[in-house]
Amino acid sequence: MTHKKRDPHWKKDFSVDWDQTSYVTRREFTRFLGLSSGALAVGSTLLAVGGSLKKPVTSHPEQELAAVDSIKPRGFLAFRYPAKDDHALLLRHEDGSFSAFSQKCPHLGCHVFYAEHSGKLECPCHEGFFDAKSGDVLAGPPQRGLDRIQLEIRDGKIYAVGVGEA
Ligand code: FES
Repeated sequence: MTHKKRDPHWKKDFSVDWDQTSYVTRREFTRFLGLSSGALAVGSTLLAVGGSLKKPVTSHPEQELAAVDSIKPRGFLAFRYPAKDDHALLLRHEDGSFSAFSQKCPHLGCHVFYAEHSGKLECPCHEGFFDAKSGDVLAGPPQRGLDRIQLEIRDGKIYAVGVGEA
């Protein structure tokens, strides 16, 4: 009497018709991994480049802020732009250049102020710190920098002409 070789029990429970399955070769799998990694790298690069680009500036009616000579280096001027309730700061830096930012903290909306002793913009609510030249976040919970007020200088005067997101 001959015993017919029986399939193991698991083959009955997990029946797969091996002839109909398509095997993935090691080479195919490696190529798939390579392509996936490449796509991930390209996607990450695009996100990084996109994130580092400044958002476009939205033009608003021009507003005269001050005479260039009226603000000394490390000095500042508070003003409102573009609307009457949009508080902003115009800063003059040590090198004589100017920058201006919305005072609205991008975290939860508190008013940032210019700390002359540190030369930074600070948010008192949760200790957010911003670079006074770029408006970029230096420390604290804000996830993006301050909205920048676009400036134009001509005939010895400084004008606000638009707003761009950080
Ligand atoms: S509101 Fe400015 S850090 Fe939180």
